[in-house]
Amino acid sequence: MDTDQTLRTFTDFFRERGHETVTGTSLLPPPQDPVLFTTSGMHPLTPYLQGRPHPQGRRLLNVQRCLRTTDLDEVGDATHLTVFEMLGSWSLGDYGHPQSLRWGYELLRDGFGIPAERLYATVFGGDDQVGPDDESLRTWQELGVPVELTGEDNWWSNGPVGICGPDSEIFVWTGDGPPRRTPTTDPRWVEIWNHVHLRYHRHEDGRLEPLRRPGVDTGMGLERLLTVLQGRRDVYEIDLFEPWMRTVPSLWDLDERSTRLVCDHLRSSIVVTADGVRPSNTGRGYVLRRLIRRLLTSLYRDDSSRGLAELPRELIEHTLDHFRQTERADLVREVLLDEERRFGQLLERGRRVLSRTEFRARPLDEEDYAYLHDTYGLPRELVAGISAGCR
Ligand code: SER
Repeated sequence: MDTDQTLRTFTDFFRERGHETVTGTSLLPPPQDPVLFTTSGMHPLTPYLQGRPHPQGRRLLNVQRCLRTTDLDEVGDATHLTVFEMLGSWSLGDYGHPQSLRWGYELLRDGFGIPAERLYATVFGGDDQVGPDDESLRTWQELGVPVELTGEDNWWSNGPVGICGPDSEIFVWTGDGPPRRTPTTDPRWVEIWNHVHLRYHRHEDGRLEPLRRPGVDTGMGLERLLTVLQGRRDVYEIDLFEPWMRTVPSLWDLDERSTRLVCDHLRSSIVVTADGVRPSNTGRGYVLRRLIRRLLTSLYRDDSSRGLAELPRELIEHTLDHFRQTERADLVREVLLDEERRFGQLLERGRRVLSRTEFRARPLDEEDYAYLHDTYGLPRELVAGISAGCR
């Protein structure tokens, strides 16, 4: 099943069951929101999950682009991405958690064609404040899906305070041969869908207060789902990355990890730029700047003549198209090239300063890093890169 079919299957399924598609999927949360970027499908819906009526009703669905930079050092492995899309469905005090689990099972088995015997669920087993989630346990047993009970792995919260509740995660067997063991004891069980029963509000003092109107919040990462549906182990092998993996290795001869990092960071930089962010030294702009500079550092590592001028317009267009962004590809390209020019100038300055004898003669210490930053505007990462031999 390709990306378009997968997206259509998901949205049709929930529309047929009375869900309205939430509009507005930008990576930028509303102005009063403390976070820099949207990190999950439910994030923009938080006020409505807390009780405010939503103008589109009580059954919602969404395909939300998200940006996560907490795992930046993992990018380059077979599964981590900075920008991804989350398929979500919500009941704002409408249907209950068992209904959500039943629909989840039906969509995975009948809609996406995942054999029932390759599914496993985990359920909250209880802790010292909240009892086991018997309702979910019973639902899975009625559906004939094997269940594993866990503790905090099946408790979802948005932070130390705020809405939270027990969740039930659905896993798919991705190993060769028949399924073995359980989700917590064999990594070949891959979690693809989380159904949260938002039942509580946690106060500062740790106390849980039951919500007057409990809700259901589900989230499923599109790229991970596609990896499973397309029988891949590596997210970069799914159809969505085909233009990237066809183009980037033929442009630049990089090792596998660097190829993945360059693809991931370039794709994210395009999406973030098209959502209106410009590189800068603070906030969102700094995140974008870091993404671009990290990918350039990988690109220049063994050939400083490489550059973004070689990036084909089609890759930018493909990305904007997929994320349904209306920004012009030429403008995005100009922002990337402009940042590359600035980075080039900074690198030049860094090389000049670091070639001075006082820095060449010994390893750099904390004082040097602070001096180079404060006097020449050279970021630590860049200095470390140059002194490690990165041209
Ligand atoms: N909030 C849950 C998650 O992020 C489900 O959407 O996993």
